[in-house]
Amino acid sequence: MANSSLFLLILLYLTPFSNAHLPRFRFTTSQLLASNPNNSFSPTTFFEVTRPIPLPKTQQCSHLLLQHDFGYTYGKPPATSYYIPPSCFTKTPSLIVLEWHSTCQGRQFDRIFGVWLGGVELLRSCTAEPRPNGIVWTVRKDVTRYTSLFYENSTFAVHLGNLVDSTYTGVYHVNVSVHFYFEQQKRYRQSGQNHIPAFSSPADLVLPISRSLPLNDGLWFLIQNSTDIQSKKISIPPNAYRAVVEVYVSFHSDDEGWYMNPPNDYISKNNITGLPGNGAFREVTLKLDGNVVGAIWPFTVIYTGGVNPLLWRPITGIGSFNLPSYDIEITPFLGKLLDGKPHKFGFGVTDALDVWYVDANLHLWLDQKSSKTRGTLIKYEAPEYAPSLVSKFRGLDGKFKTEADRIISSAGWVESSYGKITSYVAHELHFKNFMRFKGNGSMQWVNQTIHSSSSTYAKDSYTVIYTEELQQYFPLYLYSGTADKVGDTYSLVSELSLGFDQKQVVGEKGGMEFRFGSLTNLQTAQGNMKVKGNLVTSGIGSTQQVYKYEGTDGCFFRNVSSTNYTILFDKSVDSCTNLGRWGVFNESVPIRSSYAKGA
Ligand SMILES: *[C@@H]1O[C@H](CO)[C@@H](O)[C@H](O)[C@H]1NC(C)=O
Ligand SMILES: *[C@@H]1O[C@H](CO)[C@@H](O)[C@H](O)[C@H]1NC(C)=O
Ligand SMILES: *[C@@H]1O[C@H](CO)[C@@H](O)[C@H](O)[C@H]1NC(C)=O
Ligand SMILES: *[C@@H]1O[C@H](CO)[C@@H](O)[C@H](O)[C@H]1NC(C)=O
Ligand SMILES: *[C@@H]1O[C@H](CO)[C@@H](O)[C@H](O)[C@H]1NC(C)=O
Ligand SMILES: *[C@@H]1O[C@H](CO)[C@@H](O)[C@H](O)[C@H]1NC(C)=O
Ligand SMILES: *[C@@H]1O[C@H](CO)[C@@H](O)[C@H](O)[C@H]1NC(C)=O
Ligand SMILES: *[C@@H]1O[C@H](CO)[C@@H](O)[C@H](O)[C@H]1NC(C)=O
Ligand SMILES: *[C@@H]1O[C@H](CO)[C@@H](O)[C@H](O)[C@H]1NC(C)=O
Ligand SMILES: *[C@@H]1O[C@H](CO)[C@@H](O)[C@H](O)[C@H]1NC(C)=O
Repeated sequence: MANSSLFLLILLYLTPFSNAHLPRFRFTTSQLLASNPNNSFSPTTFFEVTRPIPLPKTQQCSHLLLQHDFGYTYGKPPATSYYIPPSCFTKTPSLIVLEWHSTCQGRQFDRIFGVWLGGVELLRSCTAEPRPNGIVWTVRKDVTRYTSLFYENSTFAVHLGNLVDSTYTGVYHVNVSVHFYFEQQKRYRQSGQNHIPAFSSPADLVLPISRSLPLNDGLWFLIQNSTDIQSKKISIPPNAYRAVVEVYVSFHSDDEGWYMNPPNDYISKNNITGLPGNGAFREVTLKLDGNVVGAIWPFTVIYTGGVNPLLWRPITGIGSFNLPSYDIEITPFLGKLLDGKPHKFGFGVTDALDVWYVDANLHLWLDQKSSKTRGTLIKYEAPEYAPSLVSKFRGLDGKFKTEADRIISSAGWVESSYGKITSYVAHELHFKNFMRFKGNGSMQWVNQTIHSSSSTYAKDSYTVIYTEELQQYFPLYLYSGTADKVGDTYSLVSELSLGFDQKQVVGEKGGMEFRFGSLTNLQTAQGNMKVKGNLVTSGIGSTQQVYKYEGTDGCFFRNVSSTNYTILFDKSVDSCTNLGRWGVFNESVPIRSSYAKGA
């Protein structure tokens, strides 16, 4: 299964697109463009703009998890090591940071990779594309939510399917480490005798919903079409009182640029070959015993070879080094899961084309004072919906509008030694995609927005225990135009705007604890390149990014731009008071709350 899909991917690389239509993703640069007379290792540092993890100035304990060279690893089992909690890991950490550090030299495509501990995915990421003189990059991720895993002996695994030959020479040299930080004042965990353990402390148990080792592939499930449902049966401990499914997704090959895919009608009426279709809407669903309990309308991560690889050097695309995962609160369904029997967790992708990599982690909070909890689902609604499509085209030119809206909600109670707690969960999603072709199909515009708004509200008979609201907004604008096509050579002009905005508000213990964080993160980019086959032979890319985070845990602002591999401008501020004209964290600005209606 895996083999066939990756071979298809490689064939796509090598097949020049056949008609006047736009080329698809996946490029790398030719030796010509990247050649440098100095045959030395003087690497360029690539990076994703993000807020550096605030580190406590306290005792730290570091541990190397894996050192590996990913050469010809395609179709081979993941690289593994045996994890034993390091001897310096003696007390409860307040922060755990996973660090990926890699170098590469030569020419290579972007490769997706996954990092798992005990089958639980910790990181989904994409490699940077190397240069002849080498590149280096580091990814740091806060993995505190997986704390419970680090107490156990288990297998650490990294799958990075790479192909090395005389043309694609890049070998990825990788070190993965973990850093534990210990603070007197614990950041998350509340351990008072009479308190309910904090809802937002790390889960007591994290179970993988992934494929098991050994295997010649990643631990993710491969979803190849719209009817393909991949699932795993799991029994949960009978004393759980809260459950969250965290889903990792990435899309590849025919669906790498799913938001650019035209409807099938357009493809068939124009007799187009080699252009993926199924329209521009995708949904990843989480099914519990066959019922849809969660939906993800994913952020359009653009990998380092996507659109125009010169845009991503050295500033990489939003989320490409650390793909977002998506949380689905399933606490209201616990009543159905606490019977000790195995239950089926399944994943599907609406209108999927080959191939999506999907897996998940089940985060469980357990009653420390009782071996049995019980619960009941009070309400569950996931009404059917259908995306609407308005098509208007003649020949290869035309316009398409795709829109979709959906809501999923549930409520249920769980009785534990902490009392009878009722949870209300609601998730609302909105999708819009405008697509236009002109110039006999040689120019394409895509303008897409995804809004996701989810809220969780938990209360016992007296007080509100926990509230969380998460709003996400993913705007995308993409122009792509080809010209001067002669044989398998052409030029491609790209223009892009990609945004990831998020607002999160968390309240605990009836408002006694309150946190919020607000992020706006926007990239704009322009590029042109000459392409032969799938190799970029010349060109230039420019990228600008403004990242702004304000929260109760601090602020971070960065404004950076690059062109032709060179940073032109880079300004960052990491305190709330020095944000200057970019805005101050202003406590008098009201935070919208929609919990009231659930109460
Ligand atoms: C548009 O492209 C199609 C497919 O390549 C080609 O057959 C047709 O002649 C083109 N039309 C014009 C007006 O260029
Ligand atoms: C080659 O290296 C030398 C010395 O480090 C440097 O001055 C020169 O600019 C380099 N040439 C190129 C093309 O990078
Ligand atoms: C973990 O592995 C170490 C080293 O092999 C061993 O001494 C220890 O007993 C193991 N712990 C558990 C819980 O299996
Ligand atoms: C990995 O760590 C080893 C030992 O510290 C070091 O020699 C090597 O250069 C590192 N490799 C990378 C890619 O950072
Ligand atoms: C969808 O994918 C599944 C799993 O690979 C396969 O068994 C099935 O035949 C496919 N269905 C279609 C219609 O291609
Ligand atoms: C597509 O192919 C069909 C059948 O071969 C033919 O009738 C039709 O004219 C073709 N359409 C275009 C746009 O080339
Ligand atoms: C994209 O569409 C939105 C409306 O949904 C519009 O406000 C915006 O101007 C469009 N952007 C571009 C670049 O077309
Ligand atoms: C980012 O920097 C550029 C270049 O100095 C400037 O034009 C732009 O206004 C800045 N953006 C913000 C939001 O500060
Ligand atoms: C990009 O930079 C290289 C040197 O690093 C230079 O040779 C080339 O002319 C530049 N390209 C453009 C379009 O400025
Ligand atoms: C905070 O926001 C309030 C209301 O919008 C405004 O009146 C006040 O001037 C702001 N304070 C600062 C320091 O920006």
